[in-house]
Amino acid sequence: MSKITVLRLGHRIARDKRVTTHVALVARAYGAHEIIITGDRDDSLIHRIESIVEKWGGPFSARFEDNWRGVIRRFKEAGATIIHLTMYGVNLPDIIDEVRRLWRDGKDLLVIVGGEKVPGEVYGLADYNIAIGNQPHSEIAALATFLDWLQEGEELRKEFLNARLKIIPSLRGKIVIHLESSGSLKQ
Ligand SMILES: C[S@@+](CC[C@H](N)C(=O)[O-])C[C@H]1O[C@@H](n2cnc3c(N)ncnc32)[C@H](O)[C@@H]1O
Repeated sequence: MSKITVLRLGHRIARDKRVTTHVALVARAYGAHEIIITGDRDDSLIHRIESIVEKWGGPFSARFEDNWRGVIRRFKEAGATIIHLTMYGVNLPDIIDEVRRLWRDGKDLLVIVGGEKVPGEVYGLADYNIAIGNQPHSEIAALATFLDWLQEGEELRKEFLNARLKIIPSLRGKIVIHLESSGSLKQ
């Protein structure tokens, strides 16, 4: 299956701790394979994401990169489709079939979400500037909606590998089982 990478631009340690963590959690839970974060380098953020993966499974990785242009260039050269989520873009329902076709035909995707201010150059580098409705909201909501429409809900049934914890879905209460690293139930 083709790979989905999320690029989160412009992380600020002081103001974006929770938002960037939630962007990463959504990326993982909704079927992306990795997140690359640019802006302020924040090792504790990477450790937080890694500890979620250790507990709840993967594969999913997170890393910082200094140069967002370099990331986009590398993905372009490798043949990935560059998607930039922005309220100024083409509205999702009008473009998702085309993007989904590319993805199902084997094209990797780089999905870019911004922070406070997105450099104008990003709009030109993207193959698709896509709006999740042409109203301002949030990078967390935009990413979740895009990934869900792309995968038509299939991502919600994804099995995560090497988890230590697994939830048994329940209409009432919380049922969590502890697994050995092999995936078997701990006695
Ligand atoms: C605080 S918002 C900034 C809004 C920004 N002016 C824009 O271009 O969408 C931060 C990020 O949320 C995402 N975002 C917010 N609203 C969106 C929308 N309606 N459609 C797609 N992405 C959106 C974008 O990735 C944006 O860079």
